[in-house]
Amino acid sequence: MTAFLTWSKDWLLGIDALDSQHKVLADSINRLVVECRQTAAVSPEKNERSRELLARLFQELYTTTKEHFCFEEALMCAEDYPGLSAHAREHVMLIAELKATFVNGVKEGRCKLDPEFLLALKSWLIAHVTHSDREFAEFLRGKNRSGPAASLPEH
Ligand SMILES: [Fe+2]
Repeated sequence: MTAFLTWSKDWLLGIDALDSQHKVLADSINRLVVECRQTAAVSPEKNERSRELLARLFQELYTTTKEHFCFEEALMCAEDYPGLSAHAREHVMLIAELKATFVNGVKEGRCKLDPEFLLALKSWLIAHVTHSDREFAEFLRGKNRSGPAASLPEH
């Protein structure tokens, strides 16, 4: 079966920690989608195990996303990135969206993920990484050209 979210070289920022975290996020979304498809195939109303697994995968995606955003924002802060506030707002909006989706659709066995939500999540991630995150990567590259190399926090 084709992966829902296919990793692309277009995503690469040249910042190893962020690149690997973005790949982990894509993998997490793909696992969630695979489970969604399987859950749908076995009638979600009757399959307790699938509902629990889907809730766990969603929780995992939520936690991974939050940790990644915290890491990215800490890096931006350490580098005095002027676009930090605007960038962090994009993160806050997605976290709020994920939280609402979890509360409304996944928690306590009400396991229903809207396919439109998954498509929107996919589009958001691709646009965010290839535009907003790339802007930060370009900023870092410019900074490194005109000053000492940036030291990335350990992860
Ligand atoms: Fe970001």
